Amino acid sequence: GTVAVIKGGMSAEREVSLMSGAAVAQALRSRGHDVIEVDIQTHAIAQLAELQFDVAFIALHGRGGEDGTIQGVLEWLDKPYTGSGVMGSAIAMDKWRTKLIWQAAGLPTPSSVLLSDTSDWQAIMAQLNFNAIVKPAREGSSIGMRRVSDATTLADSFHFASRYDSLVMAEQWVTGKEFTVALVGDNILPAIQLKTPHAFYDYNAKYEATDTEYLLPCGLSDDKEKELQQLSRQAFELLGCQGWGRVDVMQDEQGKFWLLEANTSPGMTDHSLVPMAAAAVGKSFAELVEDILTLALE
Ligand code: DAL
Ligand code: MG
Repeated sequence: GTVAVIKGGMSAEREVSLMSGAAVAQALRSRGHDVIEVDIQTHAIAQLAELQFDVAFIALHGRGGEDGTIQGVLEWLDKPYTGSGVMGSAIAMDKWRTKLIWQAAGLPTPSSVLLSDTSDWQAIMAQLNFNAIVKPAREGSSIGMRRVSDATTLADSFHFASRYDSLVMAEQWVTGKEFTVALVGDNILPAIQLKTPHAFYDYNAKYEATDTEYLLPCGLSDDKEKELQQLSRQAFELLGCQGWGRVDVMQDEQGKFWLLEANTSPGMTDHSLVPMAAAAVGKSFAELVEDILTLALE
């Protein structure tokens, strides 16, 4: 059958998605699939409704592509698609509500506060130990995010993040190490530790910098890595996510893990983390893409 690789979209991560989509399409062709690349922007519903295809590989990131809306369109078109369904996608896109669910289930996630024009910046900084990160709740690739340690910067960073989303939060910064765990079907891939000399693993560190370090093996003991992997799976499933995805986690200096977020349509560029973790278990990019597609048809 024909695979439609859906890429582009309207979110701030459009450029990343174009790279993911091109890489995925090339991989599928190398495996002998009949592929059409669909760059959606406006009028996506009409565009998809007119196309002849059997399954969609969603290579979109961010709102409109990773948040349940395109998943809903594909449900109505009765086409199978990769990754999470409508609900899991919608929840995972929203870091604030993701955290509410994890907290309700007793899973560890750093404390955070929703920000608004009427916030008491000083009180919030005190509550977050004067060390926080401001995030648009429904963005990806660290777009709109800034580290803050004082009330003035918090207010400025709120206004900056508000350019990307009406929902903005400040989350307590976890001093320690950053990890990511990829899940593909029943497989939990080896964790990767991310190290950047910059303030945090931001857009530049993700896609442009050459000074980002990827530790794989991740440097944890086997037991600790297993704990991290199990926590990631539990966190992913609790949100109702399925198929494949990636969970981002911090470890504090006492060794405790803190969940940050789940990504239901992680990057598939040549800098991206899921392909890197797959390579560590001997799986090529093309084999990984094939596995993700197969999960969509189960
Ligand atoms: N949001 C980017 C694409 C990622 O999580 O990989
Ligand atoms: Mg994300």
